[in-house]
Amino acid sequence: MLNDKPEWVALSAHRRTLDNVHMRDLFAADPARFRRFSFKHGGLLFDYSRHRITEDTMAHLTKLARACDVEGWRDRMFAGDKINESENRAVLHTALRRPAGDRLEVDGEDIMPFVHDIFGRMRDFSDAVRNGAWKGYTGKRIETVVNIGIGGSDLGPLMVCETLKSYTSNELTVRFVSNVDGAQISETLRDCNPETTLFIVASKTFTTQETMTNAETAKAWLLAALKDEKAIARHFAALSTNSEAVTVFGITPDNMFPFRDWVGGRYSLWSAIGLSICCAIGFDKFRELLDGAHAMDQHFQQAPLEHNMPVIMALLGIWYRNFWDAESMAVLPYSQHLHRFPAFLQQLDMESNGKHVTRSGEIVPYATGPVVFGEPGTNGQHAFYQLIHQGTALIPCDFIAPAKAPSPHQNHHDILLANMLAQAQALMQGRDREHSDNDPQKVFDGNIPSTTLLMDELTPFHLGMLIALYEHKVFVQGVIWDINSFDQWGVELGKILAKNTLAALQGQHAAGNDQTTGGLTDYIRTHNS
Ligand code: F6P
Repeated sequence: MLNDKPEWVALSAHRRTLDNVHMRDLFAADPARFRRFSFKHGGLLFDYSRHRITEDTMAHLTKLARACDVEGWRDRMFAGDKINESENRAVLHTALRRPAGDRLEVDGEDIMPFVHDIFGRMRDFSDAVRNGAWKGYTGKRIETVVNIGIGGSDLGPLMVCETLKSYTSNELTVRFVSNVDGAQISETLRDCNPETTLFIVASKTFTTQETMTNAETAKAWLLAALKDEKAIARHFAALSTNSEAVTVFGITPDNMFPFRDWVGGRYSLWSAIGLSICCAIGFDKFRELLDGAHAMDQHFQQAPLEHNMPVIMALLGIWYRNFWDAESMAVLPYSQHLHRFPAFLQQLDMESNGKHVTRSGEIVPYATGPVVFGEPGTNGQHAFYQLIHQGTALIPCDFIAPAKAPSPHQNHHDILLANMLAQAQALMQGRDREHSDNDPQKVFDGNIPSTTLLMDELTPFHLGMLIALYEHKVFVQGVIWDINSFDQWGVELGKILAKNTLAALQGQHAAGNDQTTGGLTDYIRTHNS
């Protein structure tokens, strides 16, 4: 077990030596601390100087990573080994970022021609939609694209489209519908014109209840206006691994963009699932996003663990989760464009590492994935930062920002980043009683760790690097915790029970619901008639 390894035991002992050490003192003792614990790669500056670490800590953590064979697992993932054992699948979102001409065999097939063939089709399709060559059923150009998907088939493309909004054109709007709450699709379609609306149904399995319900509603809305089944071929595309279900739904194979089961849902924005991104920003910019992720892949593969961004981020996460009992972490982008990044990361991190058994099925006797939350700064400062500064929980923070202003309002950007720097400084330094009017209410202990990630600019390339950085961080943590980061069995039970509860809500016989579910169901039925 992980916690029996000598490297783990050594870390526990080392941790105790830091009990009474404040980061203030570490900075005071080392004028080179910022330089020592920060470096830049490909336009991304990574600062981890504000952590409860010394060089010894990093050496201990790196030894743990080696003892857990992080390098071996990493190489097996990139090579296409079936490291997602519970689903008997390879994990190859990284292949999608590789340049054309590379070779990579999975089950005896070189998958790269398939990958680039689909990209070619995505380019043709999105170009035609963007330049107006693609016509709706009545001959009008498309003005609105609606991506219907949920989880990884929504959060990734949505987050990227929001982040890269400044690269979009006014002629085409891309919207997202995910929730099965009919309020979302009704609000989305309220000002859409069926003649100029294109639906992209994004679902790896093409069986997800929410997505299929929304897609059927969209189809009915379209047919109510255009009154001809033939219109579906001009107004619906599908992104999926399940071609039979796509055909049954009525979407023509020409409008289907497939991907393979070695792309996990929360890692799928790089695949055909990125079609809405291509429609929003154009295929060339999508390619830049892939190139940025590929640059991070290469860094992850080639840099020594001591100088490897995702590995260091992962190790710092382990340090706080397992040795300082931190149960959560905050992701704080100082960028309105990145406002959905925390939501995207929640799925990436919590669906991947929210696991309680090891790969071989034993209960883990140590903590695994943290609760991830966040909001863009400065908004979060006026909401939940109080608890991070003066609450009783230890919450390490990731500050993320572009150095260059994303708008002509330079003054706004200066204020934004000044706030970010001030928050990180306050979290680290705190304020003692003497400087707090001798009032305990005003005392800040400080010593709260944070990482700062500064992108030179918020481009598709930098965003690609940032996303891949977190993907690999999550991967490394999963390897160290000896869990499978690529399955998600925990979401299944609720899905199964929902069939029963739906039957009960709709007045059919429903067996197996617990007493409270029964009571609440009766209440809803009486108040929803
Ligand atoms: O329920 C969780 C999940 O399986 C996610 O992992 C996935 O991203 C989401 O549902 C959507 O799945 P699909 O793309 O198959 O509709």
